[in-house]
Amino acid sequence: MLTWVEKYRPQKLRDIAGNPRAIKDLVKWAESWKKGIPTKKAILLHGPPGTGKTTTAYALARELGYDYIELNASDSRTKDIVDRIIGNASKLGTLNPNLVKKVLIIDEVDGIHGKEEYGGLAALKKWIKTSLQPIILIANDPWALPKEFRNLCEMVAFKRIDQRTVLKVLKKICSREGITADERALKLIATNSNGDLRSAINDLQSLSEGKKKISLDDTDILTIRDSELRIFETMARIFKATSCDRAKEALRESEEQPETVLMWVAENLPIEYEDPSDLARGYDSISKADIFLGRIERRQDWGLLKYAVDYMSAGVAMAKKRRYHKWSRYQYPKILTIYAETRKKREIMNSIAEKLQGKKDTYEKCHGSKKLMKSYLPIMRIIFNNNYEMAAQIASEFELNLEDISFFIEDNETAGKIYYRAKELTSERIKLKTRGEKQISLLEFG
Ligand SMILES: Nc1ncnc2c1ncn2[C@@H]1O[C@H](COP(=O)(O)OP(=O)(O)OP(=O)(O)O)[C@@H](O)[C@H]1O
Ligand SMILES: [Mg+2]
Repeated sequence: MLTWVEKYRPQKLRDIAGNPRAIKDLVKWAESWKKGIPTKKAILLHGPPGTGKTTTAYALARELGYDYIELNASDSRTKDIVDRIIGNASKLGTLNPNLVKKVLIIDEVDGIHGKEEYGGLAALKKWIKTSLQPIILIANDPWALPKEFRNLCEMVAFKRIDQRTVLKVLKKICSREGITADERALKLIATNSNGDLRSAINDLQSLSEGKKKISLDDTDILTIRDSELRIFETMARIFKATSCDRAKEALRESEEQPETVLMWVAENLPIEYEDPSDLARGYDSISKADIFLGRIERRQDWGLLKYAVDYMSAGVAMAKKRRYHKWSRYQYPKILTIYAETRKKREIMNSIAEKLQGKKDTYEKCHGSKKLMKSYLPIMRIIFNNNYEMAAQIASEFELNLEDISFFIEDNETAGKIYYRAKELTSERIKLKTRGEKQISLLEFG
């Protein structure tokens, strides 16, 4: 499915919403190349996500008839690769003789770091100094780049798109898609997006899944499922990340516990990744994260958390060898639904286990852990279904109630009978006890 974000990505500069100032500065700089080589050979478009930086760069190149070469975050940008790609670009000249210039577009420059890529940034700096071609750089956080690097660039800031502009774009998409939408609903999406047009368009698309009308009520999921939407966003950010840092950042900024995020990642990995080898590598990372989380729990060694976190974010993100340009409908982890459904059952199992142990923590009845007690439950189930008298004796001894007994026996009537027989046995025991005789315990039965 083509995402609306892709479908409605502006192809022309004049269709880009907001940031008129930034676009004007960019065009001015690009035009200046027609007269000669300007002092600043690179321009750095920077600003928050979803504001049109990447879109603008490509629209500009197309519009001015410049050929372009891209170096995306999906390519690892080591010194060798930077040298080869930029080197070839400047040597060969343009492939198409009618085109005037070749522009180099390097996205997510702030993502070039780490030991290996560090040389890449230095190489890039060298090329900027000597380049005969315009270079467009894009970054979210320019302050993550060294100062000398920034100084070589003309800086152009993209700002968050204001709500009225976001609203206009949403309305236009609705009319193109034949959707009638309550204006208040669209306003809510716009406010919610906080100036990120990409996320606003994504929200609109998910709200209108399978219908042609959007009412204010529909936006409930935006607020009610706010935390869920946030985890959807975390998923997208991890799966789409092209650098370790971005993936780790997504997890860091998520408000969910690592255990929860891991469940979400495991559930949604096959929805996002298509290539079997990407999937295999992804699951491998997930399983490693899971091992570390298990060790943390057993040893209470929180120092291991960083490994779990890295595997489930950076590990999963780097497992893909290509980018998946699609909009995925992420799913709520099935395991959580199963947990919710079986909660009652698990609670009863716990309560029976505690009753087998006896009074809290004194182990007056059976000395052993709850886990050990639970391991007896299958045997008890066999007894309960085959020997009602013994079942009643056990129920009496461990003070099981009707709910506990029903856990073993499906037939309510039989469960009831066992329960009443157990009560009889209990009162007999109490009678014996009050007569001063030794309390009869289960071990003395039969
Ligand atoms: N100013 C805009 N005008 C119209 N559409 C926009 C604009 N900004 C973003 N969009 C929509 O959002 C999508 C993503 O935009 P784009 O990739 O240009 O954002 P970006 O600023 O590069 O974000 P990031 O920092 O996350 O890379 C576009 O395909 C388009 O549908
Ligand atoms: Mg971008």
